[in-house]
Amino acid sequence: MTSSFLQLLRGESTPLYLAPQAGVSESPFRRLCREFGADVVVTEFVSAEGIVRGNQRTLDYLRFDDEERPIGIQIFGADPAAMSEAAAFVTDTFAPDFVDINFGCPVKKVVKRNGGSGCLRDLDLVGRIIRACVRATSLPVTAKIRSGFDEATRDPVAIGLRCQEAGATVLTLHPRTRADMYSGNARWDEIAAVKEALDIPVIGNGDVRSGGDARRMRDETGCDGIMIARGSHGDPWIFKEARAALAGEPLPDSPSVEERFQICIQHARNAVAFEHDPQKAMREFRKHLGWYTKGLPGGKHLRQELFQVTSLHEAEAILEGYLEQHRSEPEGSEFVGAPR
Ligand SMILES: Cc1cc2nc3c(=O)[nH]c(=O)nc-3n(C[C@H](O)[C@H](O)[C@H](O)COP(=O)(O)O)c2cc1C
Repeated sequence: MTSSFLQLLRGESTPLYLAPQAGVSESPFRRLCREFGADVVVTEFVSAEGIVRGNQRTLDYLRFDDEERPIGIQIFGADPAAMSEAAAFVTDTFAPDFVDINFGCPVKKVVKRNGGSGCLRDLDLVGRIIRACVRATSLPVTAKIRSGFDEATRDPVAIGLRCQEAGATVLTLHPRTRADMYSGNARWDEIAAVKEALDIPVIGNGDVRSGGDARRMRDETGCDGIMIARGSHGDPWIFKEARAALAGEPLPDSPSVEERFQICIQHARNAVAFEHDPQKAMREFRKHLGWYTKGLPGGKHLRQELFQVTSLHEAEAILEGYLEQHRSEPEGSEFVGAPR
């Protein structure tokens, strides 16, 4: 079986990925981004140890709808045996389109136990983990890396080659080191170098904040796909814009404030329907409310109100109230243009 996502990577148009993002790239957001043109989505990272222990909270992170496909489940851990067991378990239980291994997470709690980007200090371990996962699943195994652990170990080409040799089918590079965290600019020249050195498809990631950025990344690096994380926050239509930019077509208009709020409410409804506890769903949704209202006139006050909501109904009423108030403002006020 050739999975549809591997076919996408061999096709004419550069596939757009919604990045794995803990607490953000959950099923409701993944579905929304697919509607706006993301071609591939990846779950937030889940711990192999949690999967192996059958931890219910961990397993809850892995639920997805068929309409999200092609989807990868991302796992992390430093123990090849646990990683292989987790890869086999997610394959049998959830049947995603691929299994992605996280070698990029910079969070202290994860790195301390050698997970995520912690593995980048030991490339033999990276190879052993990938091999163990490849043996354990019939699905493609992909890897997501940073450029190194720190400046001293910065060598994305060597890391990428190790991943390829060990059997990774696709490599995603976020060209910063763990030590960089999110500072400075992502070094797209490193994406170009890795693309040049590897035979497997290379997905570029880092600092794509607009459709134009997506096009620039493809043109400057020759990457086979583009992954977007922070640029999607409160802006799932970035995928539509990126698709147009990649095709050399005129960019679609940004949504009006009304449309932006409709998208936000649709997202919130999906989030409430997906979670078992609607209040918890809304508390966790507050960050999205903040992102969807970024840059609006009077946005600070609006966000203060939105950050208190505990129900969908409250959020709808606040957004409706904002529109009412601002619709009555004289024509030509800042409100007319959609913020970016
Ligand atoms: C809130 C948040 C959560 C993230 N969680 C994950 C994760 O679970 N797995 C992962 O591989 N990367 C994770 N990342 C990193 C992103 O996938 C991506 O590599 C990074 O943000 C750079 O891309 P960007 O410039 O488009 O944001 C996360 C990033 C953010 C902002």
